[in-house]
Amino acid sequence: MRVVLGVSGGIAAYKAVEVCRRLVESGHFVTPVMTEAATKFVGETTFSALASEPVLKSVFDGGIPHTRLGQQADLVVVAPATADFLAHYANGIADDLLSTVVIATRAPVLVAPAMHTEMWEHPAVQENLGTLVRRGVHVVGPVDGPLAGGDSGSGRMADPQEIVEQALTLLSPKDFEGVEVLVSAGGTREAIDPVRVITNRSSGKQGHALALAAAQRGAKVVCVSTVPMAHSHPQITVELVESAKQMHDAMRARAQSADVVIMSAAVADFRPVDVSPIKGHGVPTLTLEPTQDILSDLVAHRREGQIIVGFAAETDDVIARATAKLKNKGVDLLVVNDVSAPGVGFNHDTNAVSILESTGAQTDIALSTKSAISGQILDRVASRLDLQRKAQ
Ligand code: PMT
Repeated sequence: MRVVLGVSGGIAAYKAVEVCRRLVESGHFVTPVMTEAATKFVGETTFSALASEPVLKSVFDGGIPHTRLGQQADLVVVAPATADFLAHYANGIADDLLSTVVIATRAPVLVAPAMHTEMWEHPAVQENLGTLVRRGVHVVGPVDGPLAGGDSGSGRMADPQEIVEQALTLLSPKDFEGVEVLVSAGGTREAIDPVRVITNRSSGKQGHALALAAAQRGAKVVCVSTVPMAHSHPQITVELVESAKQMHDAMRARAQSADVVIMSAAVADFRPVDVSPIKGHGVPTLTLEPTQDILSDLVAHRREGQIIVGFAAETDDVIARATAKLKNKGVDLLVVNDVSAPGVGFNHDTNAVSILESTGAQTDIALSTKSAISGQILDRVASRLDLQRKAQ
């Protein structure tokens, strides 16, 4: 999708670089548009290097950029949005490229105000923002925190991650509206004693990315996780668990109402039979027992029409092992990652997977961000949901 990233002249302009990077990483075509004042705070070369095309600054920058950008955009994000920018936009004054683009577009517009507290609280700024909100403009932030010049208070631009999440929500199709999605994330921890545990390398990033992507597409999401999510989302309820037993109980209870269940957690395959109530001294001798296979149990108790997605972490004979797992576990989709490959699987921000389906279909996804991978997994789930709806 095409995103115009408008940058107006405030100290927070340097943080828009991160917004630009993350939007590009999520697979979007990003065109930065800077005001003259913005270039006093951050170099345009930085944006040009990270974005999908070089910075544009003037309505005379070749062709007629304001109409091209305005008409082609799927979303316009303005971060930071200064008091001056908001005043221009609210009053329809189009005297530079950025203020012209926001008037020339029919795409959704997301603004991230950033300014000193006195300016933010001024009635003129609040009235301008009120006008924009009434016209359907989306607003993220500002938040309380440190401001330029050593001051502190309200008016600090929202975190780049928060801005990007709101942008991705606006860009996402809403094909999961009315759908309940249950996702597991992270690695379980099995107690040896009150201090020590047996665990694995899972960070929860893949499961969290799936939860977020589903919420952005309109789903009501429950994420049963061993790791807190870095950012909250109004559509996501997080249930924190630690052990395989706790994850099993939470998943069984939550699965009763879920339309889609995604088991991306790395569940410990075994746990100590006896858990010492006190910290042991010396080298213990551990007797282990298998944990419950949560995924197989969810399949055995699936409710009618529920779509179940399993994961497989493999290191050799990847597709053959995954094909066997797809059948043995009885899932609709199995997402396999070769966790011995560079940048793939545990704790990376990226992943590369193959999605195997009970229909025999296979989709291979090359190394990309866990957020982009999640989008493609959900595309496959959405097409299964679509088939079910048509069959009803
Ligand atoms: O969390 P990250 O750092 O982002 O890493 C992501 C990931 C590598 C953990 C993820 O992409 C992944 O591969 N998750 C599944 C890991 C795993 O346990 O794979 P497995 O092949 O051992 O298990 C197969 C399936 O059975 C999985 O869906 C697993 O959740 C499930 N399982 C396994 C054991 C068990 N006792 N109960 C289960 O439900």
